[in-house]
This record gives sequence, structure tokens and C-alpha cells, in this order.
Amino acid sequence: MNETVHISGMDYDLVHRMVSRSVEQTVRYAAEWAATLPCGETVAFYGGLGSGKTTFIRGMVAGLNGENAVSSPTFTLVNAYTGRCPIYHVDLYRIDSTALLRDVGLEDYINPESICLVEWPEIAASFLPAGHRAVRLSMDFDQMGPETRLIEVLQQHDSRH
Ligand SMILES: Nc1ncnc2c1ncn2[C@@H]1O[C@H](COP(=O)(O)OP(=O)(O)OP(=O)(O)O)[C@@H](O)[C@H]1O
Ligand SMILES: [Mg+2]
Repeated sequence: MNETVHISGMDYDLVHRMVSRSVEQTVRYAAEWAATLPCGETVAFYGGLGSGKTTFIRGMVAGLNGENAVSSPTFTLVNAYTGRCPIYHVDLYRIDSTALLRDVGLEDYINPESICLVEWPEIAASFLPAGHRAVRLSMDFDQMGPETRLIEVLQQHDSRH
């Protein structure tokens, strides 16, 4: 039976779990995963400050043949990259109200032609499409070294099926 993971009020099926022991390993894994991802997908990124969300996205953009440098959109809210499909990189860290979230216009970036990558997605749970993907990055310095991350690839359990 599939393992179910509960995050932010949603149920996710665990697709893959791995331990990364370096930035390079995270980037390589993210690039390989992104190469298999169809256009039109939305990916929510869970994990604390500095857990590696933007680093994973940097790998994904490389794997999607992205041409632009990836930077954290903490202040710009959304970065756009060109790749094998348009890529939108959204960071909702500073969005602390539904009014502000409405101004971001997340729905403009979720469409069948594009890939939408969302850091700090908790406030936008109701905007995420059914069956969306997620990546959760965890670090526990008591158990692991400073360059070690637990990476879980997830897919929202679509209750319509
Ligand atoms: N195995 C690893 N995988 C990913 N990042 C790692 C790893 N080991 C160390 N790091 C470091 O952890 C930091 C991750 O930063 P990053 O900006 O990707 O995190 P973030 O989750 O996007 O943070 P924020 O919540 O501030 O947006 C970087 O400094 C990176 O070099
Ligand atoms: Mg980040």
C-alpha cells in the first residue's frame, strides 16, 4: 500500500524518498526528476528556511533546459524562466493574507502549457490543483550532517479517483 503523508491539511501519496548528502546531489536528482515532468504540472515546495527549496528548483530548471539563472523570488514574488515549457517560480514567504495572495494572481501561472513551482505554498492550499505534485525537504542537524537533506517527492491524493 502507498504511504500517505499529511501536509498543510492535504493528503499526499509518497512517490519517492531519498537522502541527499550534498548540494550537487540535490541538483542532479532535481534535474533528473524534472526531465520526466510533463508541462502543465504544479509543484508545491515544503520545508523550512534554508532547507533547499530554491536549490532543488535550480536543478529542476536545468533539467527543463532552462536558459535563465535561478534566483530566489522572495521580493519579486514570481520569476519566469524559459525552458522546454514556460516555468514560473513563485515564493509566497512574504504573503501573509488572502488579500495579498489574490494580488499575486497565482492562477495566472497554473495552466496546461507551463510548469508552476511554488515555495511556501501553505497559504495557497486552495489554489493548488487536484493531484498536484509536491517536494518536501527536511533537515535534522541532530541526526544528519549540515549538508544532508531528506527529500520526499509527493503527489496529492486525488480523492476524485
Ligand atoms: N544537500 C543539500 N541540498 C540542498 N541544499 C543544501 C544541501 N546541503 C547544503 N545546502 C545548503 O542549504 C541552503 C539551501 O538554501 P535554499 O535557498 O535552497 O533554501 P530554501 O529552502 O529555498 O530557503 P528559503 O525558505 O529561504 O527560500 C544553501 O545554502 C545550500 O548550499
Ligand atoms: Mg527559497
